[in-house]
Order: sequence, then C-alpha cells, then structure tokens
Amino acid sequence: MRSLILLGSTGSIGTQCLDVLRAHPGQFQLNGLAAGSSWREAVDQVREFDCPALALADRDAATLAREALPESVRLFEGPQAAADMAGALDYDLALNGVVGAAGLQPSVRVLERGCDLALANKESLVIAGQLLMDLALANKSRILPVDSEHSALQQCLHGEQVGRVRYLYLTASGGALRDLTLEELHEVTPEVALAHPTWTMGPRITIGSATLMNKALEVIEAAHLYGVGAERIRVVIHRQSIVHSMVEYVDGSVISQLGPPDMRGPIHHALFYPDRIASDLKGYVPELFQNLTFEEPDPERFPALELGYRCVREGGNAGAVLNAADEVAVAAFLDGQLPFHELVPVVSAVLDRRHEWPGSTLAELLEADRGARKAAKEEIMRLVPTGATD
Ligand SMILES: NC(=O)c1ccc[n+]([C@@H]2O[C@H](COP(=O)([O-])OP(=O)(O)OC[C@H]3O[C@@H](n4cnc5c(N)ncnc54)[C@H](OP(=O)(O)O)[C@@H]3O)[C@@H](O)[C@H]2O)c1
Repeated sequence: MRSLILLGSTGSIGTQCLDVLRAHPGQFQLNGLAAGSSWREAVDQVREFDCPALALADRDAATLAREALPESVRLFEGPQAAADMAGALDYDLALNGVVGAAGLQPSVRVLERGCDLALANKESLVIAGQLLMDLALANKSRILPVDSEHSALQQCLHGEQVGRVRYLYLTASGGALRDLTLEELHEVTPEVALAHPTWTMGPRITIGSATLMNKALEVIEAAHLYGVGAERIRVVIHRQSIVHSMVEYVDGSVISQLGPPDMRGPIHHALFYPDRIASDLKGYVPELFQNLTFEEPDPERFPALELGYRCVREGGNAGAVLNAADEVAVAAFLDGQLPFHELVPVVSAVLDRRHEWPGSTLAELLEADRGARKAAKEEIMRLVPTGATD
C-alpha cells in the first residue's frame, strides 16, 4: 500500500481523487488532507478516510475544525498549512489539487522531501517551472502530470525520445465562449463564462478556458515538463474534449490519447503510474467519438494564448507575473468589477512591467507574484476606475 497526501481535497480535483480512492480500497493510505476554508467538508473527509492529519489555510476554519475533529488528528493551520504538512508528514506521493499560486510552496516541499508529486496545480510549474524541475531531478522525485493534456502527452511520449518530437499539440475545448464574436465577448457575464461545454471544474480554470488563458498556462507547463521550446508547442481547438493531446514525431506519425472528458482518468493514471490498474472508467464510447473536429485558434479572439508563448520565450519571472495578474483579473471579473474583454489586457499590461520584479530564485518569484498582484489591481483601477481596489 502506498501512502498519499491530498492537497486541495475539497475542490473539483480533490473530490475526484477521493472518488478514485473509493474505487480502489486498500491501495492507498491517506496520511494527510489540505484545503483552504471548507472545514466541514474536510472534517467529513478526515472521518471517512480515517486520515491522521488535516491542513486548513483559513485560521477561523481551522478553529472550527479543531472542535469537530478527534483529538488524535494533527491539525496544521494558516496560509502555509499545506506546505507545513507536506514538509512534516511521511508519505510516498502527494497529489496537489490546490488552485492558484497557493499550490507552489506545497509542491516545493514535496519535492524537497524526495516524494513523488502528482500535479494538477499547473500554477506551480507556470510560476517556478525551472526550479521545480531542478528540485525533482536533485531529489529523485517524479512530477506526474494530472492536467489531462499533459497526462496525455506523457502517455504519447512513453518510450520515445523528446528529441524526435516535431510538435506537441495541446487540445483545447475553446471554453464556453468559443463561438462568440469579438463584439459579443464584450457582453459576457460570469454566469455565461462559467458554463463550460465539456468539463466541470473550479471557477478559475473555467474562466481560463473561456479566455484560453488556461491553455496559455498549459503551454508553459508543457515547456517545463517536456523540455521543449515554444516553437514546438501548438494548440488546437478540439470541441469534443475526447482527444486529450497529440504528439507529432519527426517521421510524421501522430500519436494521441483519447477518452471521455473525465478527470478521474488522468488522476487514476498519475496515482498508479507506471502501472496500469483496471478501473470502471469509460474508454471508447461510439456516440462521443463519432465526430472529432480540430480547428486553429483565432489569435484575435484568444489573445491570451500568445502570452503563454511569450512567457516560454522570455522565461525568468514571466510565468509568475502572468499567473498572478490573471488570478487577480479573474477574481475581479467574477466579482463583477472587470468586464470579460478586459481580462487579457490587464494581464498583458502587467506582463509588460515584469522587469520591476527581477530575478528567478524562489524568493524573487514570490516577490514577483506579490508585485504583479498589486500591479494588476492598479491596471484594473486604471481601466475601470470604479473597479477592485483590494
Ligand atoms: N478541475 C479540473 O478539472 C482541473 C483539470 C486540470 C487541472 N486542474 C488544476 O487543478 C487545480 C485545482 O483546480 P480545481 O478546479 O479543483 O479548483 P477548485 O475546485 O477551486 O478547488 C481548489 C482547492 O484548493 C483548496 N485551496 C484553496 N486555497 C488553498 C490554500 N491556500 N491552501 C490549501 N488549499 C487551498 C480549496 O479549498 P476550499 O474548498 O477550502 O476553498 C479547494 O480544495 C488548479 O490548478 C487547476 O488549474 C483542474
């Protein structure tokens, strides 16, 4: 039996990971769970999985959880709780399903411990990809992608040399707004942007699917995971979300990984890697597979995508700045304080200021994250004077 900690256990990825564990009793011992503030749900999870430790970022939530938990359960609390827990417990594998930059420090801790990291939190690689890849190498840890596209790429690259790759193709559904004109994008409300056509996910990634900023983050993620330059990564709109990504080799062969859109697939793959364990997840479903379409993304309607390529080319703190600005812009959009069509301009304007926070050590990247958040709020104020201030 392998031991596991699950970070972001109350979210979309976290709860689907628990579904996979329920389907495979006796395969994993859950040694720790971490969440932000959803203490009731987290306490229920601790009880169900007889888990000896819980981390909650929100201190008030932790106080309430303490009262509800058996005394034997070790509680970590505060903004660093998930990272503290990842640094303190014994485990073989951590699945990181925390959303946003909050996932970075836990990822660092897992790799420093020499444990394997099943990574859904793409922000970790977007902010500090080089640093994490170096840490994994130095500590003989594996980073196992949970993002469906990168899980697909890993499966398509299995046993092959990256030097023989012509292109990595990341597929994108195009999100909820893929058929709207530029003018129509001006009228989009959070409710409309959150109605994803094929996937059910947390709000940040769902808005990122509508702007294609999520795909921009995935371009950066792929560049780090597989060590390829921007010129060898392509994005293709694939509405059905059945082909999860493709690798084109120098001999013209294209290898892809397919399956119905269900995140339990890549979670299952990462948890049991390198083995393949039987599951009841669906494979070929004729009615889902009968019409598979592929289109070029429109750079005018999806300007976010180019920002991802720019970050790969520029390296350094670019990913950290991009991610932080997008987190702030998405929060402002969801609060009704920023129009949809201003999301990418805000991020782009902050990226133009990245020289203000130089360096690429962990401390410097965290400084860039803080600086870019402040700059994003300034940009929002400039664009929409009645917008977010804190
Ligand atoms: N959802 C998907 O299908 C999908 C697919 C591919 C990749 N991903 C990636 O997976 C990550 C998670 O996405 P999601 O959709 O599952 O997000 P989500 O539903 O919003 O869940 C986020 C999780 O992170 C927890 N959290 C937030 N702040 C935290 C902190 N400071 N410390 C510890 N935990 C914290 C939340 O706890 P609370 O509930 O207490 O707030 C929740 O458990 C993202 O990086 C996303 O890009 C998701």
